[in-house]
Amino acid sequence: MSLKGKKILLGVSGSIAAYKSAILTRELVKAGAEVKVIMTSNAKAFISPLTLATLSKNPCLVEYTNADQTDWNNHVALGLWGDALLIAPATANTIAKMANGYCDNLLMGVYLSARCPVFVAPAMDEDMYRHASTQANLEKLRSYNNQIIPVNSGELASGLVGPGRMAEPHEIIEFLNINLNPVQSNLNGKKILITAGPTYESIDPVRYIGNYSTGKMGISLADEANKRGAQVHLILGPSHLLPETEGISITKVTSGQDMLNACQKLFKKVDVAIFSAAVADYTPENAATQKIKKKGHSIDLTLVKTPDIAFEFGQIKKGKQLSIGFALETEKELVNAKEKIKKKNFDLIVLNSLNDAGAGFKHATNKVSIISKDNKVDSYELKSKELVAKDILNKLETLL
Ligand code: C5P
Repeated sequence: MSLKGKKILLGVSGSIAAYKSAILTRELVKAGAEVKVIMTSNAKAFISPLTLATLSKNPCLVEYTNADQTDWNNHVALGLWGDALLIAPATANTIAKMANGYCDNLLMGVYLSARCPVFVAPAMDEDMYRHASTQANLEKLRSYNNQIIPVNSGELASGLVGPGRMAEPHEIIEFLNINLNPVQSNLNGKKILITAGPTYESIDPVRYIGNYSTGKMGISLADEANKRGAQVHLILGPSHLLPETEGISITKVTSGQDMLNACQKLFKKVDVAIFSAAVADYTPENAATQKIKKKGHSIDLTLVKTPDIAFEFGQIKKGKQLSIGFALETEKELVNAKEKIKKKNFDLIVLNSLNDAGAGFKHATNKVSIISKDNKVDSYELKSKELVAKDILNKLETLL
C-alpha cells in the first residue's frame, strides 16, 4: 500500500504536538503523497510555516489573503483539490469549531468545503480530552463521517500521564493507508438485495401505522456495497433519504406486503440478502377506502401480522446464498438476537440496542454487535452508520 499520487491537505492547529507535523509532512511526501499544508495562526507559535512549506514543497497557507493582499487562498478550490483532509494535530478548539460549523479561519473554510474523506488526529491534555464537551464534539464529527485517529495514552506536555497524545506520524500514515486504499473486495460482481427504511401500513387514505426508522443504515450499506463493486438492489420503504452513489437499483415501496412482493422477484437471483428494514409487525386487516370519521372515545382496529420477508428468504435460500438480519432490541438483547438468527436462518445478525445512546433509529450513528451462526459475538464502538456499514460488509466478506 502507498499514498503515491494522493493529494493530502494537512491541517495543523495550535498544539505542542504540531512539532510532529514536520515529521508527518516529510513521511507523507516520502510515501508519495502531494501535500499542501494549511495552518491556523495559533499553530505558528509552535512550528514555522517555512519548515512545513519546505518539507511539503508547497506554500504553507495560513490566511485567506497573502501579506501583499494581491492574491487569496481559495478555500473552495483547496477543499476540492484534496483526496483527503488530515487535521493533525487537531486541538479541542479546532474540533469544537468543526463540530459546530464555525468558519473563522482558512482551515475551517477548507474543512467545510472539502468533499474528500476527513481524518482527525486529536491532541490535547487528558482532562480536556476526557471532557464531556470534547467527547460530544468528537461524536458529532463521527456522525459527519469524519474518521478520528485514536489518541495515544502516555506522558503529556502538562506533565500528566493519560490519553490525549496525538498518534505518532507512522500510525497516522498507516491509518490513511488503510482507509484511502480500498481493499480488493470479494463483493465485486455479487448481487445484493438490501431492504431498508420503515413500512407504512394503511389505516385509511390519510393514516397509517409506521415507525421511526429513517432507512439510513440500509442506505449506507447499499452505498458501501456499491463502492465495493456489488450489484445492489435496494428495496426502500418510505424514507426521505436516498443513496449517495450512482448505479444502485432502487425500488420504492410502502407496505410490508409491497416490500415482500419486490423482494420475491429477486430472491432466487441474489448472492446476499441484507434485511435492514424495520417492517411493521402488524397491518390493519382491512384498510378503509374513505377517511374514517372521528366518533366516540375510542376506535377498534383489527391488526394482522405482516409477512416476514427475512423468514421467507430463510426458508428458500439455497447453496451459497447468504443472509444478514438486524435485531433492534430493548431487553435481553443477546438472547433475542440469537433466537432470531436461528428462526430466520440468517448467517449473521446485527444487534443494536435502544439502551445504547446514539444507537438505533433516528441517529446518524449506531453501536452494533455482529453475531455469527456459531454464536461468535463481535462488538463495535459507536460510529457513523457509514462506518458501521463497512464493519458489517467486512464481516460478510469473511463468509464469501
Ligand atoms: O422485527 P424483527 O425483530 O423480527 O426483525 C428481525 C429481522 O427480520 C430484521 O432483519 C428485519 O428486517 C427482518 N424482518 C422482515 N420482515 C418482517 C419483520 C422483520 O424482513 N416482517
